[in-house]
Amino acid sequence: MDIEAEIRALQLDSAEDDNGTVNPEDAKPEEVEMTDKVEEVEMSDKVEEEGTKDEVDTKPQPVQAEPKVKDKEVAALEDAEAPDEMESEKKRHLNVVFIGHVDAGKSTTGGQILFLSGQVDDRTIQKYEKEAKDKSRESWYMAYIMDTNEEERVKGKTVEVGRAHFETETTRFTILDAPGHKSYVPNMISGASQADVGVLVISARKGEFETGYERGGQTREHVQLAKTLGVTKLLVVVNKMDDHTVNWSKERYDEIESKMTPFLRSSGYNVKKDVVFLPISGLVGTNMKTRLDKSTCPWWNGPCLFEALDSIEVPLRDPKGPFRMPIIDKFKDMGTVVMGKVESGSVCEGDSLLVMPNKAQVKVLAVYCDENKVRRAGPGENLRVRLSGIEEEDVMEGFVLSSVVKPISAVTEFTAQLQILELLDNAIFTAGYKAVLHIHSVVEECEIVELLQQIDPKTRKPMKKKVLFVKNGAVVVCRVQVNSMICIEKFSDFPQLGRFTLRTEGKTVAVGKVTDLPKSSSA
Ligand code: GTP
Ligand code: MG
Repeated sequence: MDIEAEIRALQLDSAEDDNGTVNPEDAKPEEVEMTDKVEEVEMSDKVEEEGTKDEVDTKPQPVQAEPKVKDKEVAALEDAEAPDEMESEKKRHLNVVFIGHVDAGKSTTGGQILFLSGQVDDRTIQKYEKEAKDKSRESWYMAYIMDTNEEERVKGKTVEVGRAHFETETTRFTILDAPGHKSYVPNMISGASQADVGVLVISARKGEFETGYERGGQTREHVQLAKTLGVTKLLVVVNKMDDHTVNWSKERYDEIESKMTPFLRSSGYNVKKDVVFLPISGLVGTNMKTRLDKSTCPWWNGPCLFEALDSIEVPLRDPKGPFRMPIIDKFKDMGTVVMGKVESGSVCEGDSLLVMPNKAQVKVLAVYCDENKVRRAGPGENLRVRLSGIEEEDVMEGFVLSSVVKPISAVTEFTAQLQILELLDNAIFTAGYKAVLHIHSVVEECEIVELLQQIDPKTRKPMKKKVLFVKNGAVVVCRVQVNSMICIEKFSDFPQLGRFTLRTEGKTVAVGKVTDLPKSSSA
């Protein structure tokens, strides 16, 4: 059985039940002729540039370009506006992560969204065009909106997760632009762990879809990671439809959709309920803010990207649950400011909370949502929280800001159900196996100390015989140990804080969920 098909055995959540029989063959990539994915593709993009401006039908208001805040950057909080009591309730808020293989067009599409929503003016675009040309990267100018640092611009590759905001009639969006390059998968993991919705960008250009989709390509790895990290809905945008090798071909679009569908299903997505496909050109801005013109593409009758984003429904979370916010970053600014996404409960100015696992009692001095100061914020929000009672040096990435009454569990050992994907050099998986554990914002060395039971992937029942080792594709329950205390939850209690990946030497080798914690683990 194909290992990807077996990921479904984990049933991380909405795996399709109405069509449970996935033909594992479907999930395998085609053996196609590859145009070797060049790390530094230098395409002549003249065709793409032509008509770039013509298609942008709604001229945005010329406003000052807002520099985005990188995940590692720090915004000046002093500029924040007066507190807005109901900020988080005015419009719904969604975190959207852009994922997909290197060069698929994630940053270009993200940049185009900001341009079309009026946040970047023509003058800035012209400046970027010139800068891109000077770097012999003519077609990269749209990506420069999201790729703000020099290294990214010179290499044409996103490194850090870019962060930006835009709004539609009904929704405030935070865009997280993940890097596609395989060296930066840990950064992609951090981006995806903050999002509920994923935009999976796929290049339709000849050879590029194939390279991204092959084994070892990041199209696959990103989908599997996104699902494990709690990205419940996916918009699959088939990008570069304007490219001369594609030319808005229905055949090419259908080919990509038909190959992606079984793979998405085998990765645990309910394709009917949780996935929407649509064709776009991120570079030209086609089918993004307004629907496709029949003269460009006569066969598409579906939504444009903004409409599709607007109509995504994500399950409501309980704002009254025990407070949990994994910390992804911190800095000093009139107290200690911690950043992260609220996974459960709400936070108000003045609240007393615990920073776990060090059980430090803290007080909330201020809460910032995007760039705005708010009095209260609920689940799903990406926040900066200013705290008193703790020094910046005493907070680490992976710590969790937590309710005092029901604090998060802190453990050095837990039981988990693991799905082994692909071990390096087809190694065997046994007690003593070491890997890097990624669970919410925690990144920690771990060791498998005991294999408890193997699960039959077909019946999903534990197998009787004692298990000493397993191989690729196995589902196994085991005990996992880490050296320092980490804050996690059982998957059944808080899915976002109980699902994880194991990586080694830059490759994802397993995905899993926490099934049990030691009794004495909660504070
Ligand atoms: P990484 O951050 O390195 O993973 O890449 P990315 O997915 O962000 O891709 P990026 O936006 O940097 O674009 C890569 C190349 O594809 C650039 O040369 C873009 O101009 C080109 N590109 C992106 N979108 C389109 C499109 O819609 N049409 C065409 N023709 N080219 C595109
Ligand atoms: Mg990019």
